[in-house]
Amino acid sequence: MLVKLLKGDPLEEQSLAERGTENLLLYAPEAGGCQAGSRFLEDTKVIRKSAKEQLRRPSRLRFVDNGIMTTPAGENVVPQNCTVALLGFGTVGSSVARILCERSNPHLRLTHILNRNVARKKVDWLPSSVQWTENIDDILSSSTDIVVEVIGGLQPTEEWIRRALQSGKSVVTANKQLIARSGAELLALARQMKQQIQFGASVAGGVPVISGLQEGLAGDDLFRISGILNGTCNYILSQIESHGIPFATALREAQKLGFAEADPTEDIDGLDARAKLAILARVGLHCQVNPESIVACSISAIDSIDFDYARQLGCTIRQISRAELKKTSNGNELFVAVQPALVDLASPLARVEGSQNLVVATGTYGGETVFGGHGAGGHPTAVAVVSDILAIANFKQRAQFEKPDVAPALEKTCAVTADFATRHYLRFSVKDRPGIIASLATILSHSGINIDSVLQKPDCPKSHLPFLITLEECKASLVEKALQQINTLDFMVQACLHLPIL
Ligand SMILES: NC(=O)c1ccc[n+]([C@@H]2O[C@H](COP(=O)([O-])OP(=O)(O)OC[C@H]3O[C@@H](n4cnc5c(N)ncnc54)[C@H](OP(=O)(O)O)[C@@H]3O)[C@@H](O)[C@H]2O)c1
Repeated sequence: MLVKLLKGDPLEEQSLAERGTENLLLYAPEAGGCQAGSRFLEDTKVIRKSAKEQLRRPSRLRFVDNGIMTTPAGENVVPQNCTVALLGFGTVGSSVARILCERSNPHLRLTHILNRNVARKKVDWLPSSVQWTENIDDILSSSTDIVVEVIGGLQPTEEWIRRALQSGKSVVTANKQLIARSGAELLALARQMKQQIQFGASVAGGVPVISGLQEGLAGDDLFRISGILNGTCNYILSQIESHGIPFATALREAQKLGFAEADPTEDIDGLDARAKLAILARVGLHCQVNPESIVACSISAIDSIDFDYARQLGCTIRQISRAELKKTSNGNELFVAVQPALVDLASPLARVEGSQNLVVATGTYGGETVFGGHGAGGHPTAVAVVSDILAIANFKQRAQFEKPDVAPALEKTCAVTADFATRHYLRFSVKDRPGIIASLATILSHSGINIDSVLQKPDCPKSHLPFLITLEECKASLVEKALQQINTLDFMVQACLHLPIL
């Protein structure tokens, strides 16, 4: 049973758990400092085995029915005001302002909005007290508590975030490229300045996967994270699958509908997903990995015929980001890659449609936990940003009474590799003649690779005949080495498409 996300009301969460609700969707970040009641976030789902087993440690500050926070001794806490400055008033920034304005919270106040050429950005639905500016110093020299960065890119954002932390302000950012590259240093700086930096929107947009891993699953020993982290690729692959159209047509359609950028390289070639995977590996597996060291393969070689063959194998094809931590006699090894892969039709990954995102985290004790929902879009991403703002406001509130617990989990040193052992899918395109299978089988057997099956659709043109060989489980590097030789054979029309079967 899937239950919609219930966010922000520990009391309601507790009572559902006590009733023994199975598969209760359980993630709830700290309720905001001054926020009462619960609410549902449309279309976001988190599946758990048993709510009762997995209830988070309750916060020592509690909310009661009227939304007033109390200390463990039962004294009322007067909420402190928290002020927010927004850097960037684009898709996400304007949605953040809209939520802050519409879900009016008397203790949370938007004070500044920064954007370049700011005059053209002004809107009439924000309070006149909001100060519009192009100058970061207006914000850094103010008494604003939280700086929200939703500009994107590496500069000037990194410099501005550093300066904000150094000025004694906490930071919320949705910037995956920056957090993937410099997250560890920024977290260290935040700790040094006794401030917070939250980046929940940087992976999977509105899906609360970062806080789910950091808090909801903190009690487990996670060893694998896999997911669909790029909505553009998922949309394109879903379109090829359902309409049988070529990749180029699906990409053009996605661009027309605004699901893909004019230059789609970052998405198509897996660079966007690998930045997000680097963040998940650090947050969930406590492994520091440079995004550039993660192997990323393009989805551009996938054809509609690959979906026909995949279906015959009981699978579909998705761009999968995966990271798996293995302890070996030589220490920790992190297997990590972003690539199109065959996934079993029964897997939750196979059921992700359109621009949705989904992450499966696997732990030693809790087994699999699935987080899913809208991976992008102004409003869903802004929900993640506002949840981070509320978490910081709540932290500041708690810090008045409790010693803040900011000790970071120890990061493991890991050797990074993409050499997963899986079954493999090889799709050939050849000029047909006798003896082709025999030639391929000879090379594969000399490489110590076992063929599992051979499939060929009838009635395909002999000049570029597509057929499929699947291989028994072996390391990807072994297959790649054999393919270097195979791709030079004179009957090959194009390089063999090699996908893992997960
Ligand atoms: N959109 C999503 O669905 C989504 C999902 C998850 C995460 N994110 C992340 O959220 C962040 C913002 O994304 P977005 O989609 O909102 O981008 P966006 O629509 O392009 O908004 C960025 C805003 O920042 C302004 N800006 C850019 N450079 C600036 C500079 N140097 N100084 C001042 N203002 C500047 C832009 O002004 P102009 O109007 O002049 O361009 C624009 O208003 C990015 O890090 C992105 O990766 C976005």
